[in-house]
Amino acid sequence: MVNTLPKPEIKTPSKETVLTPRFYTTDFETAANLDLSAQETELKAMLAEMRTDYNRHHFVRDEVFNQSWEQIEGEARQAFIEYLERSCISEFSGFLLFKELSRKLKNRSPLLAEIFQLMARDEARHAGFLNKAMGDFKLSLDLGAVTKTRTYTFFPIEWVLYTVYLSEKIGYWRYIIIYRHLEKHPENQFYPIFDYFESWCQDENRHGDIFKALLRSQPQLWNNWKARLWSRFFLLSVFATHTLTVHERAGFYTSLGLDATEFDREVVRNTNETAGRAFPVMLNTEHPKFFPYLQRCADHNMKIAEIESSSVPKVVKLIRKLPLIAAIVWNLLLVYLIKPIDAEALRETVR
Ligand SMILES: [Fe+2]
Ligand SMILES: [Fe+2]
Repeated sequence: MVNTLPKPEIKTPSKETVLTPRFYTTDFETAANLDLSAQETELKAMLAEMRTDYNRHHFVRDEVFNQSWEQIEGEARQAFIEYLERSCISEFSGFLLFKELSRKLKNRSPLLAEIFQLMARDEARHAGFLNKAMGDFKLSLDLGAVTKTRTYTFFPIEWVLYTVYLSEKIGYWRYIIIYRHLEKHPENQFYPIFDYFESWCQDENRHGDIFKALLRSQPQLWNNWKARLWSRFFLLSVFATHTLTVHERAGFYTSLGLDATEFDREVVRNTNETAGRAFPVMLNTEHPKFFPYLQRCADHNMKIAEIESSSVPKVVKLIRKLPLIAAIVWNLLLVYLIKPIDAEALRETVR
């Protein structure tokens, strides 16, 4: 039983790289002055939904967790722990940003402050649930310490709106695709956390919808050429990060009976489709070169990881890595240059 297990050991967080989830801070002054009038009805409706707190009783660990998980071993165990850690850090990063926004906007923009407070509530639950799952593997992240030691990246509020929107929606698709796959293949469900993903992803979907309303309330974020270029940039960076990290952890997806490449493409295609409802453009994922270019980036990234873990001197590593990094940048540029799809024009036709 869990009660008799030794206290989990505090896990040193994995090394920060370009691909690890980041912590963000933003320009709170600009956030407080956002004019939300264009989407006020939508935001008030979202606030009412958030207050309802549909998942209040969802994140409670039932007795299925109370057993030994020693049978998950070797590479599968390692890959799963990494998955839990990465997910926990990224949920926690959302919590910190939302909490800070809610604190700073309290007396300036009460509607936004409450929305952010309720989103922080959800992310805290998600991060806590994942951290407890790590406890089943006798590990735990000291999130308090992580808060102090991690570097915070500054993003202007406009970038926060684009990137958090995308990360909520990609989170939704990641959780729901795994959930639906395991519904069809229960034999691959090796740990009960996946049972929670259906309602869990609804939280992320709601968060995404809130960010959609915020984005659409700011016309300069979608009605001009700069907005179209930024949207393409953020779509590509989120998708590229996804492709690279999923391939780095292919073992985890295999242990679920999923093919990493297939899973990645399904997530990217769906997130891109969804993003067309908020962003002025979508990427053309159906272009014959779209996924092959991204695949090349993932392959080069795997070679970089191999070099990193080799025992040659640092300088030699760097010399071997440079052409691969250049090749990744080049392939990303090629994807960026693929003509995007005009989502505003599609919206007009639908109307
Ligand atoms: Fe979350
Ligand atoms: Fe979220």
